[in-house]
Amino acid sequence: MAELFVICETQEIQEENVRGFVLARMVDGTMTPWPILVARKGGAFHAYENKCPHEGVRLDARTEDFLDEDGNFLKCGTHGALFDLDDGQCFIGPCKGASLKRIDIVIDDGDICLIDDSLTEEDGLHLEEPDAHPEVVITSE
Ligand code: FES
Repeated sequence: MAELFVICETQEIQEENVRGFVLARMVDGTMTPWPILVARKGGAFHAYENKCPHEGVRLDARTEDFLDEDGNFLKCGTHGALFDLDDGQCFIGPCKGASLKRIDIVIDDGDICLIDDSLTEEDGLHLEEPDAHPEVVITSE
């Protein structure tokens, strides 16, 4: 039976907020950083890979933030693509029509969890990301 991997408690992400995490997972036998984001909207949680479909960089690579000025949409800080929080689809920007990769999450006893056998017990904060913002490892609000 697959184990649940706890990301954080639900109360750590307020309504209409987004929080980024850098997890670690095994890829071809190598521990690799895996940046993700978890958004909360309308009481529901949505998780996506933190990787813009345009050039593959983290959405917060330039701005240290995930949301547009009004806090309604996910925004890529590099070229300004906007994504719906609900489905991760880009509706404005150079990757219009493409989507962020959704990650299935499970809410278990107040915790936001993933089911992924490739995840490791260590986080990926110490692992080098070639296109990452140097100091942004976990961001919120
Ligand atoms: S890298 Fe995200 S819009 Fe270009």
